[in-house]
Amino acid sequence: MLYTADTVYDDIEDKAIGDFGSGCGILSIAANILGAGYSVGFDIDPDAIEIAQENSETFEVDIDFVNTDLSVATLDRFKGKLDTIIMNPPFGTKNNKGVDMILLNKAIEIAGTSVYSLHKTSTRDHIEKKAKEWGVSFEVVAELKMSSNENSESNNANDELTRLNNFVKAAPGNEYTIDQKEQTLCRQAANGQRDCVKLNLEYTQMFSQMQTLGFFCALPMDPTKTYMECRRV
Ligand SMILES: C[S@@+](CC[C@H](N)C(=O)[O-])C[C@H]1O[C@@H](n2cnc3c(N)ncnc32)[C@H](O)[C@@H]1O
Repeated sequence: MLYTADTVYDDIEDKAIGDFGSGCGILSIAANILGAGYSVGFDIDPDAIEIAQENSETFEVDIDFVNTDLSVATLDRFKGKLDTIIMNPPFGTKNNKGVDMILLNKAIEIAGTSVYSLHKTSTRDHIEKKAKEWGVSFEVVAELKMSSNENSESNNANDELTRLNNFVKAAPGNEYTIDQKEQTLCRQAANGQRDCVKLNLEYTQMFSQMQTLGFFCALPMDPTKTYMECRRV
């Protein structure tokens, strides 16, 4: 985002930059490295300010940091002094719903030229509507797709645990076996009928989920058998 702001729109180099919700200072430090003439970061959290100050020392850049609540601060002394505001605003949560838009509105009020703000794609229409209301032009200058393997792995595991739950809940009175090698969970009905489900789970995950469902699983006494037997306890 900052690279585009600098190279395409000439809004960073030699400009006075305000970083709204500066956190650890990543955006103002980056702006400084790109040649900003002056940078100031604002954050409500004094611990974040302290960390940002440490980080700016590490990167040997000169940035002012102001500890303030931007949703209520008037910022009079910065009016007309900042060319560009850069921001990655806090997502509104239950207790501070809409805070991102409050900060965005404040940024537009303060910035001499442009505001660069990061938002979820799902809020784009809303922001465009607000921009019209506020009488400013709106443009998407960069788009980032986040793919988190960690998230998708944990989602997959959750799906697999749900499949396990459903399989067991369909016949809670049956005995079950976990085959470690085949990654299968099988059940045996009293009439001898056997059904299996293959699950993308470690056998330890299956074991502990079976425990949650009220089963105790153990290896049989026969050492040639490699599957675990699970009995309701
Ligand atoms: C999503 S983080 C962004 C941090 C950093 N700019 C970045 O891009 O990693 C939002 C920051 O806004 C700060 N913040 C939240 N509400 C604020 C408010 N009302 N006034 C000023 N800062 C606020 C938080 O403390 C947090 O550091």
